[in-house]
Amino acid sequence: MTENKASPDHVAIIMDGNGRWAQMRNRPRLVGHHAGAKRVREILRASVELDIKYLTIFAFSTENWKRTQTEVAGLMKLFKRYIRRESQNLFQEGVRVRFIGDRVRLEPALVDLMDGLELLTADNDRVHLTIALNYGGRDEVARAARRLAHDVEMGKLNPRDVCDETFPRYLDTHVLPDPDLVIRTSGEARISNFLLWQSAYAEYEFIETLWPDFTAEIFAEVVGRYAVRDRRYGAVLA
Ligand code: FPP
Repeated sequence: MTENKASPDHVAIIMDGNGRWAQMRNRPRLVGHHAGAKRVREILRASVELDIKYLTIFAFSTENWKRTQTEVAGLMKLFKRYIRRESQNLFQEGVRVRFIGDRVRLEPALVDLMDGLELLTADNDRVHLTIALNYGGRDEVARAARRLAHDVEMGKLNPRDVCDETFPRYLDTHVLPDPDLVIRTSGEARISNFLLWQSAYAEYEFIETLWPDFTAEIFAEVVGRYAVRDRRYGAVLA
């Protein structure tokens, strides 16, 4: 049996329920996304207090392009605004920001802002915020396999050395530890293509609260439940 420390090192969150939150108020879905963006700062600050070193959030999936053009364009605008507004705060609060996902389909102005924020915060180490943007777990594994095949082709990697230790070096998350706890808000019990490889042994919490209502208090309660779970990683209890 593996003893848990009081807090997980790495928490990953599927921030779901923004659209329903807005619809319940007869407001456009984007109003819900804006309310959701406000929660990110609160949960990030709470992570520091709870001794969580890595926070990873699912902001836009490879499937989210199927939403209306208005919603997609509004979300892209929101991401740009968020980065412009929050960069200095994030830097000063010691947050190291990284983005995972495929940048190829994102507009160059957004990619420039993402690169700039990564560079600005590259020496920070208080808490690591990873934002999944145009991210899909299967897409990430496929892109990793492509890079790995290229290294084999170039003679840099022997196919015999491909194993579950070498493969994750090709994933977008190669510098991050695996998540200990994955939280999904809004009552849906699905993982929706999020961190498929990395979450093999993660604990899951599916919470009824919609993301814009997900407070630091609720977060602390959910994280507190993690401490009493037994993580066995496939082993038998002694
Ligand atoms: C899911 O709710 C949420 C999203 C697809 C977008 C998540 C984005 C944010 C929280 C905005 C801010 C993020 C950053 C990093 C600034 P949904 O629209 O699927 O809700 P529904 O299931 O109720 O329709």
